[in-house]
Amino acid sequence: MSPWRMSRHFLGAKPSVTEARRFVTTFLKGWPLVGDAELIVSELATNAIRHSASGRFGGRFVVTIQVAADRLWLGVLDEGGPRAPKIFRRNGEVETGRGLLIVSEIAADWGVFGDEQGRTVWAVLDLEESSCR
Ligand SMILES: Nc1ncnc2c1ncn2[C@@H]1O[C@H](COP(=O)(O)OP(=O)(O)O)[C@@H](O)[C@H]1O
Ligand SMILES: [Mg+2]
Repeated sequence: MSPWRMSRHFLGAKPSVTEARRFVTTFLKGWPLVGDAELIVSELATNAIRHSASGRFGGRFVVTIQVAADRLWLGVLDEGGPRAPKIFRRNGEVETGRGLLIVSEIAADWGVFGDEQGRTVWAVLDLEESSCR
């Protein structure tokens, strides 16, 4: 499979979550993990809008899809801010956000880079393993 990559900007407003999901669907149509990819991008785009400076008026974020060999890399670059992405572990009492927990569970690998000027939250899906799922 030849490698390719694709990026697109979205306005930092709620309707962009649906648009970002459609962006993934359009480019990954027919791929085995398209559902997982859509879920990951929805969660990361929602977080960019809700928790980073991308959600301010005029803000934006960037979604990148990269395919190389048997791996699919998804990244959402936001406009940063004082808060950083952090997984809430289930503690039985407090019902907290679970978006990043879900992403970490379905992705083969994930991470964050950047700083308060802009952060990329990324996740990798293993396309080869998907044939056994
Ligand atoms: N892009 C981001 N920029 C800054 N903080 C983030 C970002 N994504 C997530 N976070 C932080 O990580 C926490 C956990 O995110 P998540 O698991 O998606 O739960 P939720 O969005 O429901 O709070 C958020 O509450 C927020 O404090
Ligand atoms: Mg969230």
